[in-house]
Amino acid sequence: MKNRRKKFVIAIDGPASSGKSTAAKLLAKKLKCIYIDSGSMYRAAALYLKENNIDLENETALNEILNKINIEILYNSEKEENVILLNGKEVSMKIRNSEITNYSSIIAKKRIIRERMVWLQRKIAENQSIIMDGRDIGTVVFPDADFKFFLTASINERAKRRFLEMKDKSASSRIDDISLKKIKEDLKWRDNTDSTREISPLKMANNAIQIDTTNLTIEEQVQEIIDIIKNEITL
Ligand code: DC
Repeated sequence: MKNRRKKFVIAIDGPASSGKSTAAKLLAKKLKCIYIDSGSMYRAAALYLKENNIDLENETALNEILNKINIEILYNSEKEENVILLNGKEVSMKIRNSEITNYSSIIAKKRIIRERMVWLQRKIAENQSIIMDGRDIGTVVFPDADFKFFLTASINERAKRRFLEMKDKSASSRIDDISLKKIKEDLKWRDNTDSTREISPLKMANNAIQIDTTNLTIEEQVQEIIDIIKNEITL
């Protein structure tokens, strides 16, 4: 696949805060293609379902509601990042709070929701090269992806990253050791929920390349990926 114009798909899976989205974003910049953080789609759906008090056990209601949820991911070239729109309204920040974070893991267990998300994700990739990160991208969404990576990192490192990310984004500095402990608990809970669910659980695809990012900077992570793909995808 020497010719850059040939369409490619790169799947990056792994547990929460393993570096997937940051790596996907930087890689997309280097490869001049789009990246989709599929977690943001589950998060946007979770926000809608929570705000509208939808009973997850009511499949009929859920089916009807899913038809009313329009999720768009647009690239903001000024900020150099994606913005998430839920029914036309930007929700990029709102979907990052811990309540929606945990709820997204709960709603992601539902088959009907996953089917809709997978359909949307494949549609986005129909006519363009793409880097997509998530939990089931290499196993379910794009089983024939050109490259599949599975990023991992120790729980302590992941908690630290999430803590710093939240601190960075938070207007207040009232984030302390207690919240670091809570972040770690939440991550463990989410790891367990995402990897033990019945449908499309988080797991490494057989032909994925695993990268332990615990002791790697983001630049090093991206470089490792580039070293692997560079013979097939021209930068
Ligand atoms: O990547 P993230 O932390 O933003 O994802 C939020 C949740 O969405 C995650 O805990 C499980 C769900 N998810 C999923 O089930 N499948 C994906 N491909 C992406 C996310």
